[in-house]
Amino acid sequence: MRLYSLDADWWPIISPAHEYDELALACLAMLQDAVEGDLGRLMELGCGYAPMADHWPDDLQLTLVDMSPDMLALAAERHPRATTLKADMRELSLDEPVDAILLQDAVMYLLSRNDLQATFRAAFGSLRPGGAFLVVPDIVKEAYEETTLSGGGEAEDGRAFRMQEWHFDPDPSDHTTQAAFSYMLRWPDGRVEHHGETHTMGLFSVHEIQTALEQAGFELLQPDILPAGLPFLARKPV
Ligand SMILES: C[S@@+](CC[C@H](N)C(=O)[O-])C[C@H]1O[C@@H](n2cnc3c(N)ncnc32)[C@H](O)[C@@H]1O
Repeated sequence: MRLYSLDADWWPIISPAHEYDELALACLAMLQDAVEGDLGRLMELGCGYAPMADHWPDDLQLTLVDMSPDMLALAAERHPRATTLKADMRELSLDEPVDAILLQDAVMYLLSRNDLQATFRAAFGSLRPGGAFLVVPDIVKEAYEETTLSGGGEAEDGRAFRMQEWHFDPDPSDHTTQAAFSYMLRWPDGRVEHHGETHTMGLFSVHEIQTALEQAGFELLQPDILPAGLPFLARKPV
């Protein structure tokens, strides 16, 4: 996916870190309430360029995980004290367990119930007993509808970005949907590049997500409402 490789360093313009403040603080507060004991070590799965981490306290020991080396390189540059790990969240294994795990705005890259289960099992194995797991999908099956979004942004270095996203579901009976991205990159000298790509995305019902969490061994907790999506909060039993 070009958006997470060749064009990775456009993400701070596409989705600026200051827009994550409310969500990042709400996710951390929910995990702090759910963890038994202290939350000192937090792992984020599918962290991208790690804009959420900009809003978390410096004394939090962070492990930032992404399968894209280009996105992870940006995350490492922005958060030099964090441990960065290039890994597929479905196959992750840690030497040292963490207290809490966040999976936000990357759930859609799990394309089947097997992917969901593998990721939740890997998260369970990476947590200490009493540790908490927060899953924030962009959308669940019950709320899905075809949508078109457009946006853009300007950077201080003179670059600018415009994008249109078209989300649709050719076969509502399966677990995948399509997201077509068409975007323009404008360089400081005025040159414009046009690119486009279509991502296959996973879509699951509330029941499927809850069942996969329980099958992985988690105890389900009642989450608060978040500014983005419907959250699923779970704890590894002590
Ligand atoms: C839309 S970006 C969101 C990044 C970040 N969560 C945020 O909110 O800004 C999705 C990220 O998930 C990563 N990703 C997709 N599939 C993954 C997988 N199986 N394991 C780890 N990372 C994955 C992509 O490389 C990309 O950086």
